[in-house]
Amino acid sequence: MLTQLKVSLKARTRTKYSILLENGVLSNWQSWLSIHCPDKQIVIITDKIVENLYAYSFSKKLTNNGYNVLLLSIKPGEESKVQKTKEYLELEMLKAKFGRNTLLIAFGGGIVGDLAGFVAATYMRGIRYIQLPTTLLSMIDSSVGGKTAINTPYGKNMIGVIYQPSLVVMDLSLLNSLSKVLIVNGLIEALKIFLTLDNKSFTYARLNINKLIEREPHSLKSVIARAVKLKVKVVRIDEFEENLRMILNFGHTIAHALEKLSNYHILHGYAVALGILVEAKISQLMGFLSSENYDLISRVFYSIGISKEMLSAFNADEVVSIAKGDKKNHSGKIFFILLKDIGEVYTKNDRVATPVDEKYILQAFNSLL
Ligand code: GLY
Repeated sequence: MLTQLKVSLKARTRTKYSILLENGVLSNWQSWLSIHCPDKQIVIITDKIVENLYAYSFSKKLTNNGYNVLLLSIKPGEESKVQKTKEYLELEMLKAKFGRNTLLIAFGGGIVGDLAGFVAATYMRGIRYIQLPTTLLSMIDSSVGGKTAINTPYGKNMIGVIYQPSLVVMDLSLLNSLSKVLIVNGLIEALKIFLTLDNKSFTYARLNINKLIEREPHSLKSVIARAVKLKVKVVRIDEFEENLRMILNFGHTIAHALEKLSNYHILHGYAVALGILVEAKISQLMGFLSSENYDLISRVFYSIGISKEMLSAFNADEVVSIAKGDKKNHSGKIFFILLKDIGEVYTKNDRVATPVDEKYILQAFNSLL
């Protein structure tokens, strides 16, 4: 006879967290850290660049104030976001005898955030962590929403878990050390979310694009806050990406393939921009997006330095072959997020991801070359 026992769990406790967005909030660390780290046990995961700029001096301040701090620094770049680095970090933490009362701080860009978040999720079955993003891209996208992951030879972010941080600390003054290319890299993710959800914010970003690239504080803060608010709204509805959250993947089916084909030499935002151009073109070819809207979108991307030539470095058949392994796919079909309008995704039966015939992908790709 079948025995059926019911498991009914309490809701997870970490379902609420704050996002601090301010100039200089890092220097006020005492005000937020004491609440999140009463036991004063801290592991900071960072990369060599951020270590030299901010993390080393930050860790010294903590040590001088009685915290037990382990600073672990990885080589910058996507090649570090792999199982081997994760294991190295975990073993260092175990060797130094950090327990379950440890607070982990992911101090860096998206690579550090995804990797350190994954370490936090599995270390002794899960410890608390703070996201402290240092790039515009990680402020706008990866530090919020709890996605953690590592890459594999079979694709980007293939192994990971959704594990929410206890706090996200965005200090706008950290953006001052970024190059213009890295500012553009981050703005692309803001344009992505505006294109899928918020026509007004897309127009705001489009009209202020030069100010944004020059990091004019008021418009930059406004764009970050708008993008983060939209992302929070999406994650609240669909934390585990069963449907709506997939819209954040607009441009990413193509982008992930480009990143893999370039051995991760192309920057994520730039790959997303090319992905958006191809996926918006597919939306137009399939009759969902008007050509006027496609032209408006492409003009914005061309104005920030994205060019067709960047796409010509890739072979369309190879891109399609990698896109076949995308996480959104099922039933042997390649799924894309497509646009119906600026600020609105095409949906069918309430599903936001749409199966696309290969011929449209190749046609879109080739029409852009
Ligand atoms: N980066 C996309 C997401 O958080 O869902």
